[in-house]
Amino acid sequence: MTDHRTLRVALLGAGSVGSQVANLLLERADELAERTGARLELAGIAVRDLDAPRDVELPRELLTTDASELIVGSDIVIELMGGIEPARTFILEALGSGADVVTGNKALLATHGAEIFDVADQVGASVSYEAAVAGAIPIIRPLKDSLAGDRVTRIFGIVNGSTNYILDRMDRDGLAADEAMRIAAELGYLEADPTLDVEGFDAAQKAAILASLAFHTKVSIDDVHREGIGSVTAEMIESARRAGYVVKLLAVCERLQEDGEESISVRVYPALISREHPLASVHGGNNAVFVEAEAAGALMFYGAGAGGIETASAIMGDVVSAARRHIAGGVGVGESPRGTVPVAPIGRIETRYQIRLEVADQPGVLETVARVVREGGVSVAALEQTTIESGEGAGRAQLVIGTHRAKEQALSDTVRRLAESDVVERVASVLRVEGE
Ligand code: HSE
Repeated sequence: MTDHRTLRVALLGAGSVGSQVANLLLERADELAERTGARLELAGIAVRDLDAPRDVELPRELLTTDASELIVGSDIVIELMGGIEPARTFILEALGSGADVVTGNKALLATHGAEIFDVADQVGASVSYEAAVAGAIPIIRPLKDSLAGDRVTRIFGIVNGSTNYILDRMDRDGLAADEAMRIAAELGYLEADPTLDVEGFDAAQKAAILASLAFHTKVSIDDVHREGIGSVTAEMIESARRAGYVVKLLAVCERLQEDGEESISVRVYPALISREHPLASVHGGNNAVFVEAEAAGALMFYGAGAGGIETASAIMGDVVSAARRHIAGGVGVGESPRGTVPVAPIGRIETRYQIRLEVADQPGVLETVARVVREGGVSVAALEQTTIESGEGAGRAQLVIGTHRAKEQALSDTVRRLAESDVVERVASVLRVEGE
């Protein structure tokens, strides 16, 4: 066997992903050495609790509670602790000591990404984070490298597996939202704090990372318009189905042009997708991301968006790249310089909408609704009227209005006027339609 140089690897965190990464580094040591040209020596694994139960049994002698000591002298530091602190401090310590960093920490990158990349550039080290978005799916590297010579115009997709599981079970099996959520929790799909998934924070963090990379700018989670799936009901799913749609929690990042001014929009919300669209067939906990670029056209990335071993695959790819860089020498290849493209408020976006209204089943109601919509500058593309058979609105008519493309501001003004109108009993839901 070739006599390889040894690189010292420090692992911070041994949760579901970290324990799998440790296992792969140990089990595949010879193969990794052949592939990278360096022996990747797992120097230690920093954990909070030495005795915590783990998904994979790890050699006890590698565990330590002293992350800072482990970092000193390491060539590659893998941060899989999650959260902001102490992860941020350890990453800065690692970069300061000349190590390359591999992380899956979406929360940290979506809040302190700019600071971390600046420090990495200053010291000539690399920070890789393929695992931070969409688990096993290679999406960071394609945006950072493969599409770096193209111009990305839009990214949209499903980047949160647990909410996709919940919406999918509601759609395919007719489950109520709370029942689908209970099963998702039982299966371990939800984050320890389920609001991160359900209220769209997790997807918003990933959207901020994707938009920053795709548009060569700085987007933090505070710039992302965010709506979760908490308000999605079985009735909404059913109305969507009748109109040929499925409800998905989407992350959308796009370039906008208005009066010659360029801005970007970054947003996460439950939206309608045609049942014919490829995203409609993304089931269970899977993720899928569409990237549209001026020269490349539309590209789709699909696969496991979460899971310990799946996400470990993305980490290992970054570790191999970092090891190769160490062997080749030279500074870390950073990303394109990041400018500051303004982030537009949600009112500036333009898309199609579905509005569901409960109205009195009386003559003249339809004309009034049509007039309010027309006066709001919104154009109706489809209209369906049904009678509500049971429940709170029994006996009323339900109007489902599909609009042509409209500005969000015009649409929300129109919905407010509809809500104030005498003929409308209730605005049951308003959903954007994406992918058309
Ligand atoms: N909670 C995340 C999800 C895990 O459901 O997609 C992967 O980031």
